[in-house]
Amino acid sequence: MSDKTTALVTGANKGIGYEIAAGLGALGWRVGVGARDDARREEAVEKLQAAGVDAFGVPLDVTDDASVTAATASFDRLDVLVNNAGITGDRPQEPTQVSIDTMRAAVEVNVYGVVRVTNAFLPLLRRSAHPRIVNVSSGVGSLTRQTSGGETGPISAAYSPSKTFLNAVTVQYVKELADTNIKINLACPGYVATDLNGFRGHRTPQQGAATPIRLATLPDDGPTGGYFEDAGSIPW
Ligand SMILES: NC(=O)c1ccc[n+]([C@@H]2O[C@H](COP(=O)([O-])OP(=O)(O)OC[C@H]3O[C@@H](n4cnc5c(N)ncnc54)[C@H](OP(=O)(O)O)[C@@H]3O)[C@@H](O)[C@H]2O)c1
Repeated sequence: MSDKTTALVTGANKGIGYEIAAGLGALGWRVGVGARDDARREEAVEKLQAAGVDAFGVPLDVTDDASVTAATASFDRLDVLVNNAGITGDRPQEPTQVSIDTMRAAVEVNVYGVVRVTNAFLPLLRRSAHPRIVNVSSGVGSLTRQTSGGETGPISAAYSPSKTFLNAVTVQYVKELADTNIKINLACPGYVATDLNGFRGHRTPQQGAATPIRLATLPDDGPTGGYFEDAGSIPW
């Protein structure tokens, strides 16, 4: 078994996930680069390795049972799982116009994908002395913000509720795992310029990676069951 702290980041071939992998790698960690496309994954791994990161590719489509099960074979232990892969889904997303297929696709990746990957990797996380799970959510999943006039982006009947759903499911994990040493938290990266939003975000992917990295590297007396952005806790 490797002595190095070992992490898996899903959707790590680009955007915020890539920068989370780079940031954890810079700490001297071994980082599994989870990505569904072979060419994009290999390119990311090569770039990370060229930057000195102990990175390795993990073929991983979070919507596919067989892919997720096969991915577990790349590890003999996992210390940190970052569930970062996500999609916004097609437009339109006004609730009066959205297609059920668009809603289903968002939930399939952003919620069921997280459950599928988390449950497959839990036996490997249980072998760690300091296991951490970070679910990359979004402030747009906050019902409090959505209903109090906060800045929560465009109307989106698929993406925003999928993150609210992810938050709710994560709370159930927190309750079930309360008696273990597994810390599980939700991270919002802020509004980041990535493919996800046509690069309209005002933050860099490196800035977006900061809170996920902080939660991935929590000390043993750190929080669990929180919903965080750079500035602190997000209201549910
Ligand atoms: N950007 C923002 O402003 C913002 C704000 C709040 C939260 N977030 C969250 O941050 C996370 C990362 O998003 P991002 O902005 O970095 O977007 P991004 O650049 O579009 O990256 C998304 C990543 O998820 C992967 N992915 C999508 N579906 C997948 C699947 N079925 N299996 C495996 N991987 C899959 C993508 O892989 P491919 O390259 O193969 O498509 C890509 O690597 C998401 O959870 C997103 O909801 C982003």
